[in-house]
Amino acid sequence: ADYRLGGHDDFMHKEMAEQPDAIRRALLGRLDERFSTSRLDGLRLDARELRAIRRVKFLGCGSAYYAGQLGASLVEELSRLPADAEPASEFRYRNPVVEHDTLYVAVSQSGETADTLAAVQELKRKGGQVIGVVNGVGSAIARECGRGVFLHAGPEVSVASTKAVTNMSVCFALLATLLGRVRDLGVADGARMVSALSALPDHVAAVLAQDDEIAAVARKFKDARRMFFIGRVRCWPVAREGAQKLKEISYVHAEAYQASELKHGPLALIDPDMPSVVLVPDDELLTKNIATIEQIKARGGPVIAVTNADLPEGLADAVIRAPRITRELDPILLTVPLQMFAYHLARELGRDIDKPRNLAKSVTVE
Ligand code: AGP
Repeated sequence: ADYRLGGHDDFMHKEMAEQPDAIRRALLGRLDERFSTSRLDGLRLDARELRAIRRVKFLGCGSAYYAGQLGASLVEELSRLPADAEPASEFRYRNPVVEHDTLYVAVSQSGETADTLAAVQELKRKGGQVIGVVNGVGSAIARECGRGVFLHAGPEVSVASTKAVTNMSVCFALLATLLGRVRDLGVADGARMVSALSALPDHVAAVLAQDDEIAAVARKFKDARRMFFIGRVRCWPVAREGAQKLKEISYVHAEAYQASELKHGPLALIDPDMPSVVLVPDDELLTKNIATIEQIKARGGPVIAVTNADLPEGLADAVIRAPRITRELDPILLTVPLQMFAYHLARELGRDIDKPRNLAKSVTVE
């Protein structure tokens, strides 16, 4: 066995297990308890410059794009700045409007993804202000941006990104808190974010401790050839990332859908052979998500609920539980059981976890 695996069967398992420590590194020196905010010195933006930002746009490919979508939701919620995410691979081809008071955020684990680098170059040509949220120190995207936030996730070997994606979301929570605290986010909410972020590593460890339970759920659904991943609002990017992980390493067809959109077409696909993984955070949309599960069940579809809420007994066919942190950060936590579910399902199917077919760790061609 590879000595670098440190007792794990593969890098994906090792890297999932490293997440609590990786998050601690991402938070190190970046939480400001005195002023209930965060510090991101690498942005090189003072309070006046931070207040001049009118919009935030995240750009990344694949999982980095989905993480960016989660980041946009955090920024909108905590700073009330309009924010969205777009695949970096599409950006330059549609001749985007580049606004000077928009903060563009280039997101990449490797820092070498050709499409993301090209988006940064196009932005700079047009005078856009762009920061990098990157794991690879000294990488092409880090150098091209010249400022930003390093993920400090440590080296990631498995093609399926886990700890880097989690740290992206953590860094976006820091960014959103910072942008919020120079605007409308109050001291109490700032303090709530600071203490929730500090608690995140231990909560992730609690999810990781359920490896056997999650493996049992994966075993139960190993014969499925297609699956839905259903999420709503904050958990829509989580569903997309969960579907992505499953596709990458198990080759099971997974499609992410917004819960609210199911009735506009995809419900036609629901039958006993189409399980749905439904994300149910304990937030203000809980009753809506319970109704979604009932709609799927009424049409004969099996449901795996991934939740930190108290669900009615017998509602879902399987339940994967996570702790509660705080509503803005719960989506980050709910990403972790989906990695584990994909991992164990792929193992049941005997897949090559770290090196899935047709994929490269970083896509340096356009
Ligand atoms: C993640 O599991 C994927 N392998 C892939 O989508 C990846 O996130 C994407 O290619 C972007 O890579 P980057 O973060 O290194 O830029």
